[in-house]
Amino acid sequence: MKKFRGIFIKNDAEVNIMRQAGGIVAAILDELEKAVRPGVKTMLFEEMAMQLCKDYEVKPAFKGYLGYPFALCCSVNEEVVHGFPSNRELRDGDIVSFDMGVIHRGFYGDAAKTVPVGQIPDEVTRLLQVTRDSLFLGIEQAKVEANLYDISLAIQKHVEGQGYSVVRRFVGHGIGRHLHEKPEVPNFVPTGAGAVVLKPGMTLAIEPMVTMGGPEVEILADKWTAVTKDRSLAAHFEHTVVVTSDGPKILSQRLPA
Ligand code: MF3
Ligand code: CO
Repeated sequence: MKKFRGIFIKNDAEVNIMRQAGGIVAAILDELEKAVRPGVKTMLFEEMAMQLCKDYEVKPAFKGYLGYPFALCCSVNEEVVHGFPSNRELRDGDIVSFDMGVIHRGFYGDAAKTVPVGQIPDEVTRLLQVTRDSLFLGIEQAKVEANLYDISLAIQKHVEGQGYSVVRRFVGHGIGRHLHEKPEVPNFVPTGAGAVVLKPGMTLAIEPMVTMGGPEVEILADKWTAVTKDRSLAAHFEHTVVVTSDGPKILSQRLPA
């Protein structure tokens, strides 16, 4: 596969496979979201994710990755990312972040979204909206010849301008035949980092993680679940995107049936 400065460039056929992978991830996330309601145990979503992978004839990308034990990351309230599905019951007013990845014909798709459980306070609706908006503002910057950190800047500016914090401990990433490829896609502008110029065929997973309090996170004793240090609420939205001469295209969206 062609590379530019260590970053894999995908051809049209490869991008089309990644669009199928992303379309399946989007369809799975839609099904999970539809099943969200107070009283449901988060393990239900893991079972649904596993069954949907069978139905779509894809492999769950996260299960076994660096020892992660589930197909789905399911993070509730102050959990930022990498939460375990469990017997915990969702309650009215919670928020839940689903992060799902699949492998389809050798390529990865990866996407995430945070959804409300029942009725949530307006200020929490705003957290979800700001995080989602920051993802789309970042995606808009994924243009040929742009600097990768234009994406980071757009996300950081929007989030911090709204009074929230961007998590620095985790970043977005290149994606393709591997879940994590070069380059890292931070949601903040790193100090002292050189420019990375975007080229057609680069595929990126852009994934802002935003908190209502400070940016610091800690990892629970299960070695995976990342929670906000101040236990403030956190949201996470992610899309897999391809850079094209015709602008950024989202790959992790549902395809017409
Ligand atoms: N979207 C996340 C990521 O980029 C999910 C990874 S969970 C893991 O990398 F278990 F696979 F690590
Ligand atoms: Co990701």
